[in-house]
Amino acid sequence: MGRNPYIDAPPPPLPTKAYSLTIANNGQVISVDPDDLPPAHDGHPGSLLTVLLAAGLDIDHACGGVCACSTCHVYVESGFDSAPEPIDEEEDMLDNAPALRDTSRLACQCVPDGSVDVVIELPSWNRNEVKEDH
Ligand code: FES
Repeated sequence: MGRNPYIDAPPPPLPTKAYSLTIANNGQVISVDPDDLPPAHDGHPGSLLTVLLAAGLDIDHACGGVCACSTCHVYVESGFDSAPEPIDEEEDMLDNAPALRDTSRLACQCVPDGSVDVVIELPSWNRNEVKEDH
């Protein structure tokens, strides 16, 4: 996992329960098992980015998942509160993100705890990654 040397905050806790991650754009449902989390090459362990990449979705993540860009921006439309609040550095990055919403998160920083299922929507620049016929 890459790490941003300018961020002191520890990574968010890993999910403790299994949950479903639904991609609203195409209805794809990904099962997330806390005992079988995907490898965290880019993004925090257990983050939405690691789950999406492991599911074969080539979501943009220009900085390698270290909270130094906003290309991994997603909308968490359901289950938003099941992830710890964004740290200041994420808020700063989101402030510069296009098409910001109240539900915006950086996928590499957002680690749901598994207490509820999660529904996300991908912004327009990542929509080509979801197959409509899935
Ligand atoms: S990949 Fe750069 S902030 Fe998430």
